Amino acid sequence: MRRVATFAALALALSGCGLLRGCTSSQPPIHLNPSMDDQPKLLPQASSDFFYNGSGMRLPVEGTVARGELREDDAFFKGIGEDGKPIAAIPVAVTPELLERGAARYAIYCQPCHDARGDGKGILFQRGNVPTSSFHSDKIRAYPDGQIFDIMTNGSGLMPSYKWPVPPADRWAIIAHIRKLERERAEAAARRATP
Ligand code: HEC
Repeated sequence: MRRVATFAALALALSGCGLLRGCTSSQPPIHLNPSMDDQPKLLPQASSDFFYNGSGMRLPVEGTVARGELREDDAFFKGIGEDGKPIAAIPVAVTPELLERGAARYAIYCQPCHDARGDGKGILFQRGNVPTSSFHSDKIRAYPDGQIFDIMTNGSGLMPSYKWPVPPADRWAIIAHIRKLERERAEAAARRATP
């Protein structure tokens, strides 16, 4: 009889989720050690009556600069020289790694419209007959590198801005790739021209 009772109690304890872990329950969990989960606090984006503007989140003090975010190198971050004009050449070393990075980023962000060779015969041109600049035109070949940087950063005419998806270091990598495409095209033309 005692054995039956013990067994029944055990079965009850197991089936009723009393001892088993991993059961779901709509009851709040038992918190043996009330930690900082339970305390008056402001969650991100929450409102607050404490501050005059009703916002729980505070703005940084004016002029605050996060570590590593002091973008004072205008040549690198804006493509502008000390004279306020677009810089002539890429302000970083053009290494094989940079070119590889540039080719990969170009394939993602520029190729859809400017096509793999930079002739501007991408999807916009094919489907919508939208005139898309060729990087092999005399005009764009003559652009200082800083100007192409500016076009990627701020857009130009129908060309949208790629400021957010393409960070500054990648913009320079893409320019290195475009310059390589142009150079290769010009060299091929020169080879054809010389008998
Ligand atoms: C959604 C299509 C599209 C994508 C993607 C695109 N472009 Fe363009 N781009 C255009 C069009 C269209 C023009 C012609 C704009 C105009 O003349 O109004 C253009 C023009 C340009 C020009 C010449 C602007 C001038 O001053 O004549 C440059 C340089 C350029 N794009 C670079 C890039 C680079 C670099 C990328 C990749 C980061 C890129 N584009 C991605 C559509 C695109």
